[in-house]
Amino acid sequence: MSDITENDVLKALGNVQDPMSGKDLVASNMVKDLQIDDSNVSFIIEFNNATYPNKDKIQEQAKAAVSELSGVANVTVNSRVNDPLKVVSSQSSKGQAGRPQQPGPQQRPQMPPQQQNLAPNAKYIVAIASGKGGVGKTTVAVNLAIALAQNGAKVGLMDADIYGPNVPMMMGVHDKLGTRNNKIAPLSRYGVEMVSIGFISQGDTAIIWRGPLVGRMVQQFLQDVDWGELDYLVIDLPPGTGDAQLTLTQAVPLTGAIVVSTPQDVALTDAKKGVNMFRKVEVPVLGIVENMSYFVCPHCNERTEIFNHGGGKKASKKFNVPFLGEIPLDITVRVGGDEGKPIVISDPDSPVSQAFKKIAESINQQVTKEKDEDSGVLKRVFKIS
Ligand SMILES: Nc1ncnc2c1ncn2[C@@H]1O[C@H](COP(=O)(O)OP(=O)(O)OP(=O)(O)O)[C@@H](O)[C@H]1O
Ligand SMILES: [Mg+2]
Repeated sequence: MSDITENDVLKALGNVQDPMSGKDLVASNMVKDLQIDDSNVSFIIEFNNATYPNKDKIQEQAKAAVSELSGVANVTVNSRVNDPLKVVSSQSSKGQAGRPQQPGPQQRPQMPPQQQNLAPNAKYIVAIASGKGGVGKTTVAVNLAIALAQNGAKVGLMDADIYGPNVPMMMGVHDKLGTRNNKIAPLSRYGVEMVSIGFISQGDTAIIWRGPLVGRMVQQFLQDVDWGELDYLVIDLPPGTGDAQLTLTQAVPLTGAIVVSTPQDVALTDAKKGVNMFRKVEVPVLGIVENMSYFVCPHCNERTEIFNHGGGKKASKKFNVPFLGEIPLDITVRVGGDEGKPIVISDPDSPVSQAFKKIAESINQQVTKEKDEDSGVLKRVFKIS
């Protein structure tokens, strides 16, 4: 009869780090179904996303940690992706050659999708993020996508905000997604092709998003949509810098990210979290946009700095990322958003539209500069230290 206890095993697994959360596997609640049968130990490691970085490495380390316990002969580690039906097995046996493999040095999270290349047809994939909700991400995403399309680029817009999809309203599209070439057909408006969970009816949602996971949704929006050849895929991320956003930034082979902020200190503190999130997964930050930067009175043209205008510029210097521009607080932006007619369409010559166009140009310059001509691989020039 073995003396190994559940506590021994959990203690050993407590020494294995989950690079995503920075906590150990036990504290991250990733160890499931631990079973001890004499000298045989088995357990499941549950990952919260199919493209979780270093899945194999973590499994190996967990196996090695438990194998080292005295009295343990066999360790079976299964993994699953938040889905009890999807179990992938990997068994280890402590044979005579049988020193268990030593855990290797902790690796930083990698970008698995870059290996998987889920979106082979998009030259550049740019995510729009914010540390805080309501700062104007979707407004920037739709106007930027249209501005890029107006420049002649073929542009896709993916609404990755599963719980608050605002792209349909802001683009004024209320149709449902259909199919084309046996794939999901994106809807088109203002020269931009787009997908959103808001384009799926309630009934379909139940079928397609059974047990929805944000990462999975994004994978589906990359792989199962008939995007055709795209120059740009613009992704409107859900607000914040939590696990869902982090997972998402790893589910997509991003070329770069734009962080939108308003000028208040509290928003800028959150913007820093956004920059740090991308830093963690080695996605270049293409820059910060300061939205609702200042207010110009439509009656007297007087400019009022409602919230400490200029904070975005200072913050981008401090975070060592480019400053992409400031968008004034302008009622026509809000009205255009509500009415499904973004300002670059309704008033293309306005200062706000010009600001969006400048941002589009700056993005275009940055990503095309980053393109490695030899290998066709995007260089991560704006890597932040
Ligand atoms: N520069 C601006 N001037 C006036 N109103 C604006 C401006 N930018 C955004 N808005 C308005 O502010 C509201 C929030 O903007 P938006 O939905 O783009 O933010 P968000 O960051 O995407 O929000 P969420 O976090 O909920 O996804 C909208 O009503 C939008 O029309
Ligand atoms: Mg939004």
